[in-house]
Amino acid sequence: MNALIVYFSQTGNTERVARAIGSGLQGAGCETVDLAPIREAGPHDWLDYDLVGLGTPVFYYKEPVNVRDWVKALAPRPQPGPVLTFNTNGGNPTNTFRRLQKLLKPKGGRVLGSFECFGYDTYPIYLKSFRQWGHPDAEDLASAETFGGEMAAKAGRFLAGELVSEAAYKFVGGKHFRLSWICRRPILNTFFPKLNLREDLCTACGACAGACPTENIEMAPGPRFLDRCIHCYLCERICPQNAIQCDWRRLTKRMNP
Ligand SMILES: Cc1cc2nc3c(=O)[nH]c(=O)nc-3n(C[C@H](O)[C@H](O)[C@H](O)COP(=O)(O)O)c2cc1C
Ligand code: SF4
Ligand code: SF4
Repeated sequence: MNALIVYFSQTGNTERVARAIGSGLQGAGCETVDLAPIREAGPHDWLDYDLVGLGTPVFYYKEPVNVRDWVKALAPRPQPGPVLTFNTNGGNPTNTFRRLQKLLKPKGGRVLGSFECFGYDTYPIYLKSFRQWGHPDAEDLASAETFGGEMAAKAGRFLAGELVSEAAYKFVGGKHFRLSWICRRPILNTFFPKLNLREDLCTACGACAGACPTENIEMAPGPRFLDRCIHCYLCERICPQNAIQCDWRRLTKRMNP
C-alpha cells in the first residue's frame, strides 16, 4: 500500500503529528509514505495513492479556509478510497472532523478514522490555557504513531473489499458551534483587525511573504496584501521589524473580559 499525507501546519504542531502518523503507517508495512505540505499538493496528487491522510490545525473553530479550499478543488476519485484525518487544536476543535468528512465524501474520500491532540496555540488575543503547553508531546506523538498503524490495517481491509465502517462524529453544538458559524470569511474580513503596514519600519526583507500560508503577500518591492487572507496573523507575529501592526484592543476586551 502507498500513502500520501497532506498537511497544513503554520507553527509545526500538525506537521509533527503528520510525521508520527507517517512512521506508524511505515511500521505497519506501507511501502511508500509521502508527506506533502498542502501548498505543494496538487488536486490530482491524491489519485496516485491507496490511502490519503489530511491534517490541519483548527482555526476559528473549524478547518482553515485554505484547507477547505484545497479539499473543494480536489479531482474526484474514480473509486472511493480510504482517508484518515487529523488535527491539532487549542481545545475547541468543534466539528472540524465532521466538516472534513462532509467535504471529502463527494470527492470519493471515505474517512475511516481520525486523530487529534492539543497543539500549543500562538493566536495573539485570548488568554491561553496551560493544558496546551508543550503539545504535541511525546505521548501525543506515540498515540499518533499507533493510530497510523491502525489506519494502515483498516485501509488494507477496505482496499481488499471488506465492509469497513466509516468514522462517525457526534455533532458539537452550543457556543463554539455558534462561533464557528460566525467566524466566516466575510465576518473576519470586516470585523477582525486589519493588517497595517508601517512602511517606515519595513525593510522589504520578504519574511512575511515567505511565511504566509496562502501566498497573500506580494513583494512589489515592499509587501502588498492580496485578497486571500485567512486571518492567521502569522505575518504580524514574525515580522522582525514589527512593521505589520494590528489593533487588537477591541477584540481583546471582548475575548478576555
Ligand atoms: C488563527 C488561529 C485560530 C485558532 N483558532 C482555534 C480554534 O478555534 N480552536 C482551537 O481549538 N484552536 C485554535 N487555534 C489553535 C491551533 O489550532 C493550534 O495551536 C494548532 O496546534 C496549530 O497547529 P500548527 O502548529 O500545525 O499550525 C487557533 C490558532 C490560530 C493561529
Ligand atoms: S517581514 Fe516585516 S520587514 Fe520584512 S517585508 Fe514583511 S513587513 Fe517588511
Ligand atoms: S496575510 Fe498575514 S494574516 Fe493573512 S494569511 Fe497571510 S500571514 Fe496570515
